Amino acid sequence: TGRCVVAVDGPSGSGKSTVSRRLAVGIDARYLDTGAMYRAVTWAVLRSGVDPADAEAVAKVAGEIDLRIGTDPQGYGVTVDGVTVDADIRGPEVTGSVSAVAAVPAVRTLLVSRQRDMIDNAGRMVVEGRDIGSVVAPDAELKVYLTASEAARAQRRSAQDAADVTVTAADLARRDRLDSTRKTDPLQQSADAVVLDTTELGIDEVVARLRELLVERG
Ligand code: C5P
Repeated sequence: TGRCVVAVDGPSGSGKSTVSRRLAVGIDARYLDTGAMYRAVTWAVLRSGVDPADAEAVAKVAGEIDLRIGTDPQGYGVTVDGVTVDADIRGPEVTGSVSAVAAVPAVRTLLVSRQRDMIDNAGRMVVEGRDIGSVVAPDAELKVYLTASEAARAQRRSAQDAADVTVTAADLARRDRLDSTRKTDPLQQSADAVVLDTTELGIDEVVARLRELLVERG
């Protein structure tokens, strides 16, 4: 039925978003940013004054909101109850609380099921996150795990956010630790994922390598 999923996982600052979007444009695929979905739930949690550490209240918010996300790699939009949140979900408040919200099992169950529905309806899709190859789409045609040195990741993220590199490095280290050690669906490298270290590789080289791999796999 032409279904083809490319799963792109890795820590933040590994180049996931840029690589995934560019790959999707190049192979004429849809694109799903699952991190934006966890960020949007976090935005709603903060808006409602709920403590991100209160798992039960967080799960309740997640179940009640109308969360929508587009799949156009050149301009997907995220809305919560009709409010456009694309800019706000990248801010420091959401970034500071997203790992706590993403650790709540009921939130993950809900979002993973939404993600699978979107994948099933997409045909070709590049899906990026932390648990795509391991949980969301274990049957993906291609699984990629992107890494980069901590220094390179902090450098990229701080340039992207126009933020101080030391503060960004500390924030990345904290989020990586939370994301890798949580009980439910932690960030992990699937045994069958192709691992690419982007510390020295340019974005174009990474995208070209992935396209080669897709061709090889038919
Ligand atoms: O990729 P991004 O940095 O936008 O993801 C934000 C946060 O969302 C991550 O730090 C992680 O806590 C959570 N996340 C997740 N599972 C995914 C994608 C993101 O837990 N598939």
